Amino acid sequence: MTRLLLSILLLPAAVLAGGTWWTDPDRIALGETVFDAKCMGCHHPEVKAFGPSFRWIASRRTPAEIYAYIVSPAALSRERGYASNSMPHIPLTREEIEAAAAYVYSFRSGRDGRGGDPDNGGAGK
Ligand code: HEC
Repeated sequence: MTRLLLSILLLPAAVLAGGTWWTDPDRIALGETVFDAKCMGCHHPEVKAFGPSFRWIASRRTPAEIYAYIVSPAALSRERGYASNSMPHIPLTREEIEAAAAYVYSFRSGRDGRGGDPDNGGAGK
């Protein structure tokens, strides 16, 4: 149900952008400002803080999964393997959610990512 809803929600954005929103440099840059304002208190991009590092997340989740979690952390924390949910729902515009998700995903390891050890900074679930 959540997945179906999500794919319906995500489709127009990808089409409008004429490509993939999660690789758009403008969105990634906006995502960094969202991070500074709304996520930095609990997340560090590269090492575990209160929440898992973005590098850890990006190496395990798709952009759509990251987007979905920002929209509804309480609904998804169990299926992601967390014993409890500590991340609140943060009111953001759709553009800000895409931007934040693109920023998180930009820390993925591998050829196009920023590299590094994906196991460094994980949630240890
Ligand atoms: C109050 C602390 C807090 C804030 C603020 C917060 N997070 Fe989180 N986040 C967490 C914690 C803790 C988890 C681990 C799961 C949980 O407790 O819900 C998490 C999990 C996540 C996950 C899912 C990880 C997975 O396993 O799939 C994503 C994605 C994420 N956060 C992104 C963000 C973004 C982007 C922001 C800012 C818009 C943000 N978080 C703000 C604490 C926070």
